[in-house]
Formats: sequence, structure tokens, C-alpha cells
Amino acid sequence: MSFTIAIDGPAAAGKGTISRAVAAHFGFAHLDTGLLYRAVGARHLAGAEPVAAATQLTAADLEADDLRTPEVAQAASRVAAIGAVRAALVDFQRAFARRAGGAVLDGRDIGTVICPEAEAKLFVTASPEVRAERRYRELREKGIETDFATVLADTRERDARDMGRTDAPLRPADDAVEIDTSHLSIDEAVAAAIAAVDQAM
Ligand code: C5P
Repeated sequence: MSFTIAIDGPAAAGKGTISRAVAAHFGFAHLDTGLLYRAVGARHLAGAEPVAAATQLTAADLEADDLRTPEVAQAASRVAAIGAVRAALVDFQRAFARRAGGAVLDGRDIGTVICPEAEAKLFVTASPEVRAERRYRELREKGIETDFATVLADTRERDARDMGRTDAPLRPADDAVEIDTSHLSIDEAVAAAIAAVDQAM
């Protein structure tokens, strides 16, 4: 039996944390689809043509340890606007979604394009300021030198590109449950997500 949970939303809204906790709660497998685009973005920064990089993507590319930098995030969002890059990554994501035992996929277009038939759909958001503040703290903790204004500008730039592209723009599916984490603790956000999935079961 397969059961798919689609979790979409902008950068640093809490999708990753919520997705991992929801997957652990239900004993489901989890795929962070942003990693696919980050891996393609990283290969493009290293000189590869984006569509070729997406077509030839391997599991090893997803384990590169420099995928969490702001430069790779911006490169990911640029290559993610290319229709042929997105198309090359569809089958892998759909196969993952339909694996036996249940799956959580988080990204930008899971509920709208990749798995419109997902049994549960969440859209996790927070204000740009709250998201930039969280990302700023994460980057500082990793020892990456930056300032809040730069992170906020980066966040807004990536939002605009992700929401404005013609192919699979970031938006909530009509039947997604929206969770705004701006004023929620991690535990509260996770509890809200689990409750929403329980409703769909
Ligand atoms: O989620 P994360 O910040 O790792 O995603 C990096 C970029 O990859 C996003 O800004 C977005 O442009 C792209 N992406 C996407 N579709 C997804 C997941 C990520 O376009 N399903």
C-alpha cells in the first residue's frame, strides 16, 4: 500500500524539519526534492550544462557535502526554472512517492505537479522576515559569514523566482492544508502537520 504526503512551501519555512518529523512519526520514507535541484545547481556551477546534469544525476551527487550553501541554493533556483531540468527529475520523484510503505516528499511543486493525487497535502509558510532570520542563524551556526540584510534579499529573490516561473511555480495546491509557522514552535508546527495528515487517513 502506498500513501503520499506532499509538503510544499518557500525556503526556510520549516518544511525540512516538519517533513523529517512527519516521516518518522508515520514510519514513511522521506525525499527532500530540493536536494535534486541543488545537486544540479552545484554541477552547473562546476561547469556542467544543466539539462545534461539533471539527466545524468546519480545518488552520489545528492551526497555531495557542499549542497547547503547560499550559492548552490541560488544556482538551484535558476536551473529549476528550466522546463527540461524539471522534466528530467519527474520519474524519480513519482517512483519514490509510490513506494510501498508510504512516502513524504517536500519541495515546491509536489502537491501541484509531481503528485497531484497525493493523499495528504500541506503548504508550509512563514513571513519572509521570519524565514530569513532562521536561515541567517543556521548559516552563522555553520560558520558561514553573512548579514541579515543579504539573507533577506536572497530569500526574497529566490521566492520571486520560484513563484514567478512559468513551469511549476511555487503555489499551494487547491486542496492543501496551509500551516503558517511564523509564530509556532517546532513542536507546535510538527503537531499541526501530523494532525492534518491524520485527518486525511
Ligand atoms: O528546498 P530547497 O531550498 O533546498 O530548494 C532549492 C531550490 O530548488 C528552490 O529555491 C527551488 O527553486 C528549487 N526546487 C524546485 N522544486 C522542488 C524543490 C526545489 O523548484 N520541488
